[in-house]
Amino acid sequence: MTAALGSLTVVGTGIALREQVTPEAAAAIERADDVLYLVTQPLTAHWIERTNPRSRSLDGLYAPGKPRHETYAEMVDELLAPVRAGRDVCAAFYGHPGVFVHPGHEAVRRARAEGHRARMLPAVSALDCLVADLGIDPAVTGLQSYEATDFVVHRRPPDPAATLVLWQIGVVGELGYATEPRRENLALLVECLVETYPRDHEAIVYEASPYPLVADPVVLRLPLEDLPEARVPLLATLVVPPARAPRRDPELAARLGLS
Ligand SMILES: C[S@@+](CC[C@H](N)C(=O)[O-])C[C@H]1O[C@@H](n2cnc3c(N)ncnc32)[C@H](O)[C@@H]1O
Repeated sequence: MTAALGSLTVVGTGIALREQVTPEAAAAIERADDVLYLVTQPLTAHWIERTNPRSRSLDGLYAPGKPRHETYAEMVDELLAPVRAGRDVCAAFYGHPGVFVHPGHEAVRRARAEGHRARMLPAVSALDCLVADLGIDPAVTGLQSYEATDFVVHRRPPDPAATLVLWQIGVVGELGYATEPRRENLALLVECLVETYPRDHEAIVYEASPYPLVADPVVLRLPLEDLPEARVPLLATLVVPPARAPRRDPELAARLGLS
């Protein structure tokens, strides 16, 4: 007897409630046999459950003291169980489902390896909102993007001539479940940054608004050294603008015919 073949569609709900859900993501949520979701806004959860009554949240898998990688592994198992039973499953994550969402990628990889149909649909991420709200064009300065803990522990060398985006500054050094940023860990992040940037270089703490029609984004401009004492929202992203212009290599420019 052959195992039943199911399918998995991983979608994102964007950052702003409903307005940023693409028509193809909405259709996938509506048509699925089961929808398993992880979103930050109760109104988004409410919309998903109204769109498809066979929906349930994965949020209960988080627990204080439980390592995040364990929670993620359980999420992948939860997503794959109905797929293995031959059902068409939709996994809905906030933002883009492939941007800093390990379970989304892993579930697609494993579902395919087991012979099921699996795909991920693109969506609006926090980075897309950031580019629009802060007026940053990656073409102008270049763009480097790191997870904040990864940036610290691997001593990633930033290019001071390009915009730097650091994700998850609210949970630097936190491998489990956080309810607020740890100031001493933000101080360590700043210690790494000031190896490259002046202490008083302007940084931007950014949080996109989930309700852009009625509420502005959080845009907190401050000297880098003040970051540990700042009110950093748990879901904030840090932007460090360039500290200098890029240096042109005249020889290479000439070889491109650009001198
Ligand atoms: C687990 S990642 C999820 C990212 C999400 N999948 C996306 O596409 O934006 C969580 C991180 O995304 C960023 N993030 C999430 N929501 C945000 C918001 N409203 N404004 C700014 N950054 C946000 C923060 O860096 C946060 O720590």
